[in-house]
Amino acid sequence: MPVATAQSSLDVDQPTLPVLLEGEARQRETDAISFQFADLIRSKRCFLRAAWTLNREGIILLKQAVSTEHLNNLNQKIRKLLKNVKRYKTSGIDEIAYLNLPDRRVLKGYNNFVDADKAVINYRVKRPDGRSGSDAGMIDIFHPERLSTDMDVLIRQALHEDLIGRLVMAASLTPVEVKCRNLYLNNGVSDTRGYHCDGRSLKFKSFVFLSDVHRLDIGPYCYVKGSHRNKTSWKRSRHFNASHGISTYEYSQLEGEAALPMLASAGDMVLSSQRGAHRGHPQHPDASRSVLVNMYSGGLGSLLPFAT
Ligand SMILES: [Fe+2]
Repeated sequence: MPVATAQSSLDVDQPTLPVLLEGEARQRETDAISFQFADLIRSKRCFLRAAWTLNREGIILLKQAVSTEHLNNLNQKIRKLLKNVKRYKTSGIDEIAYLNLPDRRVLKGYNNFVDADKAVINYRVKRPDGRSGSDAGMIDIFHPERLSTDMDVLIRQALHEDLIGRLVMAASLTPVEVKCRNLYLNNGVSDTRGYHCDGRSLKFKSFVFLSDVHRLDIGPYCYVKGSHRNKTSWKRSRHFNASHGISTYEYSQLEGEAALPMLASAGDMVLSSQRGAHRGHPQHPDASRSVLVNMYSGGLGSLLPFAT
């Protein structure tokens, strides 16, 4: 995909980027979609407000969803796992996971990762054709809850699946189910994919931050609020993509839109509709970010009001 640039609205020869909100505007837009996780549990009114906001804006931030002690336990397990990956020849990691190192691929293809019977530890590498957006350097772990009984308990508790599943259903008026859990470990990942959506079917992701993301160069999740419902930029992008050899789901035309970088603290959770325009901001080479991810999808999405 060509490099996106800011430009005149009359010139549609190139992909265009949204403005990235900063300062007071960023804080104001974040506050408008933020809820304390504890309030969500104890107040039905708060729960319904959060569901309504998710419906309208496509994204919400749930503050302090996971305790510090819980985070420490989980991060400790992850550090131990990475040590076992480093000495994979003797650690026995191959017995409990498919380990795809940059120069050692044992499993291929996203669908095979999702359908795998064990955890998949996949090191993202540069694309063979040199195209951008590879997320090279990222460690993407599918089904991390299958790595051990301890991980299973820690991960399921951190994701709050029952409550978040009910929240997604209240927001979308559609039954949803958990499709896949992932752990994203990003260290100095600079070649991130540009703005895109994850298809047009009903799909939500929850992101539990296991480390602070307080600055842009740490690589926050960025989202164009309301873009899951607004067809204008979607149609403009589709039209542009079709005539420029760009994949269907790239949001290539976002001029005049504003993207919100979701700066968050460890323990916060972001919940978003993946139909909206989003991306991970590129990281500084020394930056690191750990996120636990859960995907919810529904089979009847295209039949119901939220999906229009
Ligand atoms: Fe995505």
